[in-house]
Amino acid sequence: SILIIDFGSQVTQLIARRVREAGVYSEIAPFNNAEAAFARMQPKGIILSGGPASTTQAGSPRAPQIVFDSGLPILGICYGQQTMMMQLGGHVSEGDGGEFGRAFIEVEKPCALFDGLWQTDEKHQVWMSHGDKVTSLAPGFEVVATSDGAPYAFIADEARQYYGIQFHPEVVHTPDGAKLISNFVHKVCGLAGDWTMAEFRATKIAEIRAQVGSGRVICGLSGGVDSSVAAILIHEAIGDQLTCVFVDHGLLRMNERAQVETLFRDHYNIPLVVVDAEERFMAGLSGVTDPEKKRKFIGAEFINVFEEEAKKIGGADFLAQGTLYPDVIESVSFTGGPSVTIKSHHNVGGLPARMNMQLVEPLRELFKDEVRVLGRELGLNDQFVGRHPFPGPGLAIRIPGEVTKERCDVLRKADAVYLEEIRNAGLYDAIWQAFAVLLPVRTVGVMGDGRTYDNVCALRAVTSTDGMTADIYPFESAFLSRVSTRIINEVKGINRVVYDYTSKPPGTIEWE
Ligand code: XMP
Repeated sequence: SILIIDFGSQVTQLIARRVREAGVYSEIAPFNNAEAAFARMQPKGIILSGGPASTTQAGSPRAPQIVFDSGLPILGICYGQQTMMMQLGGHVSEGDGGEFGRAFIEVEKPCALFDGLWQTDEKHQVWMSHGDKVTSLAPGFEVVATSDGAPYAFIADEARQYYGIQFHPEVVHTPDGAKLISNFVHKVCGLAGDWTMAEFRATKIAEIRAQVGSGRVICGLSGGVDSSVAAILIHEAIGDQLTCVFVDHGLLRMNERAQVETLFRDHYNIPLVVVDAEERFMAGLSGVTDPEKKRKFIGAEFINVFEEEAKKIGGADFLAQGTLYPDVIESVSFTGGPSVTIKSHHNVGGLPARMNMQLVEPLRELFKDEVRVLGRELGLNDQFVGRHPFPGPGLAIRIPGEVTKERCDVLRKADAVYLEEIRNAGLYDAIWQAFAVLLPVRTVGVMGDGRTYDNVCALRAVTSTDGMTADIYPFESAFLSRVSTRIINEVKGINRVVYDYTSKPPGTIEWE
């Protein structure tokens, strides 16, 4: 296995993911807990992640000495490269300006890491994101590739099998990055690459059984792919020790509740409680306009509903959630980790402490597309696993400003028209996520001979592989015209439709 030591990069899990794609098991440990993980795992190689700190600052994170004493191969990425230099006798300086985004590196010498992939003198695209840079090498290291902004962009000590790279091989914008990581785990660390999603399923089932024992588990179903896959996996592990609870908070898409009932009750025969909680959610959201306040209210109210339902079914010892890695990473600072909070995802934190329940989160390490592979592995059909993601706070974060039942009803209709057109055009699977947003902004229009003064509907559609970055979907204008006409004609309360042309970053996928 590979031990990934985390210094708080937003993309550390992408490293784990690339390692999984290379068919090798890995675990991530925060830098301050890495020594224990090392002792437990007995890994065959180490990867040091990037991170937001500066190694030039006193008290900045370091890798535990044991990894350098172990004689194992080490790959240091960005901050990981810099701390490796500092710890082995090189030097790092604060950069003036740094390098962010696309860059090109030029290969100077052969290296085991790009053996069979890159040749000397070639230039290759990579993705950089750094302020600081290495300014003198630790003994034993040499430069194998350079970039304009980083003369030590790629360094190696082949004798010790230590590699340091300033760019990020784990992101898709480094086109050969996955192959570099695969070379590291296969050629450098000598690992076989025979780990699969079927194995993940078996491992998780064993872990769930070990964790839960004869305890009772309740699972919050959202109707989305994540919580559904989690529930089906857990049901496979422990059968009817699991009860699913589906909270209808009134912030769902059209027909969502009926679909969940059919799938779980009729198809999988999983015990399911459906709670009608629309009124209390609407009451609590009344007057709330701040996105984080909405998210926090919905998260907290979810917990309240859950607690009540848990009591009604006689209590449970565990709470199962379909938390995915991007939910974890974007909330880590919320739970005390080293990254910055972008949004407080409602399915992380809060509940277990209050309810005295432990969490069962079997998908915590996975990305969306990996969950889909697991879903198929568990027998879900393509249409279900192919569903676009839907956030826990639902339509509330697609209605900037105050959320009301009337606004939800308007948005639900517009969203349904939009999705129907996308399906009719055969575009659903080419899009990662598409939805309508209702803006609480009224503009003037003219319909027939009359003046209208109604809300604006924004359409969003993005492509992505993991939700961490996203690009807008380039619809043809005829398609957008058709959707716009239909929405304005069919949905009372909307008289103007606009298309959101913002990638992520700088935007996020949801509007709040
Ligand atoms: P953003 O808006 O952060 O969204 O770019 C990335 C992906 O995460 C989904 N999302 C959520 N999922 N609970 C969830 O389960 C949440 O609170 C939440 N917020 C955003 C979003 O729909 C997109 O797929």
